[in-house]
Amino acid sequence: MDTLEIIKKRISTNKFDTTRTLSEAEIKELVSYATESPSAYNIQNWRFVAVTDPEAKERLKAVSYGQQKIVDAAVTFVVLGDLRGHEKLSAILQPMVDAGLMPQAMADGWVGQTASAYGSNEQFARDEAIRSAAFAAMTLMIAAEAKGLATGPMIGFDPEGVKREFDIPDRYVPVMLLTLGYAAPGNWPRKPRLGVDEVLAFNKCREF
Ligand SMILES: Cc1cc2nc3c(=O)[nH]c(=O)nc-3n(C[C@H](O)[C@H](O)[C@H](O)COP(=O)(O)O)c2cc1C
Repeated sequence: MDTLEIIKKRISTNKFDTTRTLSEAEIKELVSYATESPSAYNIQNWRFVAVTDPEAKERLKAVSYGQQKIVDAAVTFVVLGDLRGHEKLSAILQPMVDAGLMPQAMADGWVGQTASAYGSNEQFARDEAIRSAAFAAMTLMIAAEAKGLATGPMIGFDPEGVKREFDIPDRYVPVMLLTLGYAAPGNWPRKPRLGVDEVLAFNKCREF
């Protein structure tokens, strides 16, 4: 299936084949595609907890309004945004500096800019973490579809409960859950969308 077909055919899957699992190697490969996503300054402030263990899935379900697909999917990711992702920027940029692709002064400038932009503005750091992690989640969904897998993004969970159950430090915002596995029969068909003219304006906003 090509990318445009995937975009048109993807659905949020509710029913997963409970008999099929994914190996750690397969999960790692899928996440490697997610890490190709864009992020401000290339900070890459997405993180993932892959919940595959049946007991851990039950704990996640219990803090996610009992949504059964968490248990049924081969893996449910807790997609996190790192509020302090910028602290790794110097190390992230170093290979580009070493390869002569970026002057050291530019790298130092970016590190300084991000330290002041995100370090002194928690709301901005949070917005950025959520933006980046959402891109990564979408890339992960497209990669999964390309491999014949199905996904479901979910915001129906108690963030504090998820943090507690999975020992997630405060620097990480739980952005969404993402179920991923093999679809079972009985899912909803593709849902209709608003027309392009209902969501698009050229050159100036309007009341849509
Ligand atoms: C941020 C976000 C949160 C969502 N949370 C849930 C959820 O908690 N439970 C659920 O069943 N579906 C959830 N969904 C799935 C939406 O209901 C679904 O994407 C929407 O109805 C459009 O359907 P489609 O994805 O099949 O095209 C969520 C989707 C997004 C993008």
